[in-house]
Amino acid sequence: MKILIIGGGNMGLTYAKSFLHSKITTTSDLMILEKSEEKSALLQSLNLGTIYSKPDTCLHQADLIILAVKPQDATQLFEYIKPQVEDQQVYLSIMAGVKIETIAQELGAKKIIRAMPNLPAQIGMGMTVFTSNDEVTRIELVMVQNLINTTGKSIYVDKEELIDASTAISGSGPAYVFYFMDAMMKAAKDLGFKESESALLVSQTFKGAVDLYNKQNLSCQEWIQKVASRGGTTEAAINTFAELKIYEDIKQGVHAAMDRAVELGRGNKKV
Ligand SMILES: NC(=O)c1ccc[n+]([C@@H]2O[C@H](COP(=O)([O-])OP(=O)(O)OC[C@H]3O[C@@H](n4cnc5c(N)ncnc54)[C@H](OP(=O)(O)O)[C@@H]3O)[C@@H](O)[C@H]2O)c1
Repeated sequence: MKILIIGGGNMGLTYAKSFLHSKITTTSDLMILEKSEEKSALLQSLNLGTIYSKPDTCLHQADLIILAVKPQDATQLFEYIKPQVEDQQVYLSIMAGVKIETIAQELGAKKIIRAMPNLPAQIGMGMTVFTSNDEVTRIELVMVQNLINTTGKSIYVDKEELIDASTAISGSGPAYVFYFMDAMMKAAKDLGFKESESALLVSQTFKGAVDLYNKQNLSCQEWIQKVASRGGTTEAAINTFAELKIYEDIKQGVHAAMDRAVELGRGNKKV
């Protein structure tokens, strides 16, 4: 199967490296279409397959085309590649907020898969949620899921609205975690730790807690009960978080991200 990645930026590069590293494909079956000359030169030096600058030289060779340009470049891209689109090709779009219906209408593609990856895909620890239209066969879906899984884990959803919901959870989620970590690191420094010590204390605490969660079948609330003894230090912190309504505020933040994803999907790119 010949794969063409359109857009050799952060995500395009992540996909190319993950596919090759996992040996799911080889450089002879991998193509990248990149319009920036500077990035093309860098891609050439990385030996990630054949690098192209024009769609008419590569699109017709591809069975799977991955759309990895920014959502604001989508319309221009669709116009640019539309003449080369063929019905049997599978299109996998990772562009945030760009709906399957829009891709079908503006690009004229038949088989469309839409996916929302996240940043830890760069280290094989990504979380991707994906869906497809009815034209994509089961075999094609499995093939694409195997490729996506080279960047981490994935789930398939039937409803496209859940792609926007996943943008608010796993897509933006790494930033929420960094936000919480940052606050804890600042608190550690206030309590007297050096910057490097604060970073280690917090990052190892997050890693340890998540690994523990993944190893045993307990809920977050049950784990909190295990750490927090009655009248102890953890309880003092958790009670303060509850008084400040931090739990509810986090949920509200996630809903705001979801609302914005829907808004962007409707074409409102205002910032
Ligand atoms: N980064 C993430 O963590 C993340 C997570 C989930 C989803 N996504 C989605 O992934 C997509 C790519 O994000 P990114 O961070 O990888 O963006 P990026 O680093 O800006 O990469 C996009 C690349 O595509 C190139 N490009 C634009 N139009 C093109 C065209 N017509 N033909 C060929 N190449 C073209 C751009 O070149 P120029 O720089 O010259 O414009 C750029 O090199 C976005 O739609 C985003 O919503 C990203």
